[in-house]
Amino acid sequence: MTRTEVDPQARFDEIIEAGEKVEPRDWMPEAYRKTMIRQIAQHAHSEVIGQQPEGNWITRAPSLARKAILIAKVQDEAGHGLYLYSAAETLGVSRHELNEMLHSGRQKYSSIFNYPTLSWADIGAIGWLVDGAAITNQVMLTRTSYGPYSRAMIRICKEESFHQRQGYEIMLALVNGTEQQKAIAQDAFERWWWPSLAMFGPPDDQSTHTEQSQAWGIKLETNDELRQKFVDMTVPQADYLGLTVPDPELRYDEDSGHYHFGEIDWDDFWQVVKGNGPCNRERIAHKTKAWDDGAWVREAALAHAAKQANNSKGAEK
Ligand SMILES: [Fe+2]
Ligand SMILES: [Fe+2]
Repeated sequence: MTRTEVDPQARFDEIIEAGEKVEPRDWMPEAYRKTMIRQIAQHAHSEVIGQQPEGNWITRAPSLARKAILIAKVQDEAGHGLYLYSAAETLGVSRHELNEMLHSGRQKYSSIFNYPTLSWADIGAIGWLVDGAAITNQVMLTRTSYGPYSRAMIRICKEESFHQRQGYEIMLALVNGTEQQKAIAQDAFERWWWPSLAMFGPPDDQSTHTEQSQAWGIKLETNDELRQKFVDMTVPQADYLGLTVPDPELRYDEDSGHYHFGEIDWDDFWQVVKGNGPCNRERIAHKTKAWDDGAWVREAALAHAAKQANNSKGAEK
């Protein structure tokens, strides 16, 4: 058989089997393409929507240094959105379409961003826990089968580890502060702990996408495995901070070498996924308004690009 006669499905299976990367020019099953678009878009939307709960504290950061760090962090998240929309575009969908699907509710973003940021300690808790949970998932995704997605993840992970450390450092400063500062750190920890565990998605026996995603080399570890990894990494950090994990069932299991933890409130999780979280409507309203307000920028950029293209055509003559 010559190269051109190779069965495309067989070639795709071979790439997956060998742990190589599927590239935009390669043939791929339509369902793989759709899954990849859905997953990368949901990830991109999460990066962008995730700017809102933290952006809420930029004007109220307790010092100039904290403000500069937080601005840099929120800007990084915009950058992550940009890499990811670009990765999704290699699959034949435009950023414009993806934004419209987000605004109309046809695509989702991570439910964690539908919770409010009530105190400065929430900025610490988000960096430490939410970015920490994101890294756990994203380190796995650096090995995912779609090339542009896996490469975007390598750079994103480096920045996420800075985000996680800045959050932990905020918590460390608070727990070494006044009684009131310790109390807001504990309060924020209690509110973000369970939603962070839920971020990994439903338990394996209820997860609809896991099996197929594993067969395609998109997902290399299951929701429950990743969640366990996060708990094992984070509980000792909470101990070091002197914070109490809000879970009476939490205990270290000598035999397995893992922490055992209590049941997640999945009803609450599904309520938030369905749009009934504390901030769902506010987040989408804000995002849609920013999109509408920015229409003139997109138009101007396109007009400028068209003009440049015209000028260079003129120069060629
Ligand atoms: Fe990010
Ligand atoms: Fe981040």
